[in-house]
Amino acid sequence: MVDLIKDILRFNPEGQPVIVRGWVRTKRELKNLVFVEVNDGSCFVGIQCTFDKTPFDRRETGVAAASAAVEVLSALKTGASVEIRGNLMPSPAAGQSSEVSGQEISLIGDAENYPLQKKRHSFEFLREIAHLRPRTNTFGAVARVRGALAYAVHEFFRKRYFHYIHTPIITANDAEGAGAMFQVTTLDMEKAIRDNGQGTPPDFHMDFFGKKTFLTVSGQLEAETYATALSRVYTFGPTFRAENSNTARHLAEFWMVEPEAAFADLRDNMELAEDFLKALLAYALDNCGEDLAFFDAHVEKGIVASMEAVVNAQFTHISYTDAVKELEKYADGFEFKPSWGCDLQSEHEKFLTEKVARGPVIVTDYPKEIKAFYMKMNDDGKTVRAMDVLAPRLGEIIGGSQREDNLEKLEKRMAELGMKTESYWWYLDLRRFGSTPHSGFGMGFDRLVQYVTGMANIRDVIPYPRAVGLAEF
Ligand code: 4AD
Ligand code: MG
Repeated sequence: MVDLIKDILRFNPEGQPVIVRGWVRTKRELKNLVFVEVNDGSCFVGIQCTFDKTPFDRRETGVAAASAAVEVLSALKTGASVEIRGNLMPSPAAGQSSEVSGQEISLIGDAENYPLQKKRHSFEFLREIAHLRPRTNTFGAVARVRGALAYAVHEFFRKRYFHYIHTPIITANDAEGAGAMFQVTTLDMEKAIRDNGQGTPPDFHMDFFGKKTFLTVSGQLEAETYATALSRVYTFGPTFRAENSNTARHLAEFWMVEPEAAFADLRDNMELAEDFLKALLAYALDNCGEDLAFFDAHVEKGIVASMEAVVNAQFTHISYTDAVKELEKYADGFEFKPSWGCDLQSEHEKFLTEKVARGPVIVTDYPKEIKAFYMKMNDDGKTVRAMDVLAPRLGEIIGGSQREDNLEKLEKRMAELGMKTESYWWYLDLRRFGSTPHSGFGMGFDRLVQYVTGMANIRDVIPYPRAVGLAEF
């Protein structure tokens, strides 16, 4: 394989021959010179290749090669793929250390009517050509940062003896009890309804799995089964929610990282969440400098400093009850009036991080009514051992809890919520056989990428976003 531009710029000695392959970003022509900027996505910057059109000066490669180069150059278009041979030279131009003094160029793939001609297109426009947007500065950088963060997730957990496990994507259970699930079926729904008569649901015993199944909303319940065997585990995979929330923070298909640890209480969980978030931001700061500098300059000013502040911050801990008291003091400023029992809105989360704590906040001990069935009940019988990590600029990035490990209490709660305990027999077994206190959380990976890149809309941090009415690619 040929060298990538990243390697060429880092390792190749100047004056030596190089081969560059990539896509033309720009071409500029002077009387005798042609400048071709080539990018291969291996790093933020491309490499400038300068060609001298005067064939007689090209004794090394010969007149024939030089005139072939002139021909290719004159027809060369933005977006085309090329191979360029030349010598790496110190660059006289500002903003780049080396360039290629080009000797040969061959066209690999032409680009007629390429849609990315302008320097800047709106993110809305680019969403419509999601298959080409990774070739822009912004989306190339998002893709590299996203990949780097995924690597950092695995590095963080491996160092702490958390085992990576793969939980199922198709499931018969609603892990969050929220009901916003996509059904998975091989039944011909139209035929089933025709055969059964109008309004009669199809017989799901005849379905592929012999029962109703769905795309998972969380791998947590299965992760709990492995945590109570391997002590520390995590899942990292796609999760699906059919909620009709058309916001800049919600996707119908998103990626979630879910660690689960046995013999861990809510305090341990909060500590792990704080360490985790800081480690991921620190990794991006250390390894994605060029891309982050771009986001800082062109997407969200001050983003690098704000991430450094989080890395050095001590996260503020506040109970839900105290948080609501704080919010009530400023009730007039909110569209949704805060009161004990209601879920925190994003304006409330923003206020808590930006005005009350001036940094990341972990809100704990929420009313049981607004949290999932599996959370451990506090002694007050009203609140549960829940925690949400709120980040400045973004709001909720992590949600987690200590789990209910007492069989009777869990069964009672499930019954209160009208859940069918029979289908959770295996989950309840964990409370029958060697039950232990255990805790975990879920971090929205796409929200993390939003946080690190400053991209305002979550649809711009995943290659092919899935949201209500959106599944073109
Ligand atoms: O708070 P959530 O719903 O928690 C769970 O699913 C638990 N089972 C996690 C656990 O304890 N193992 O979701 C966790 C995180 C949220 O904090 C948010 O960052 C992200 O997942 N998230 C979404 N991200 C994008 N689009 C959506 N529709 C999201 N819903 C949740
Ligand atoms: Mg949540």
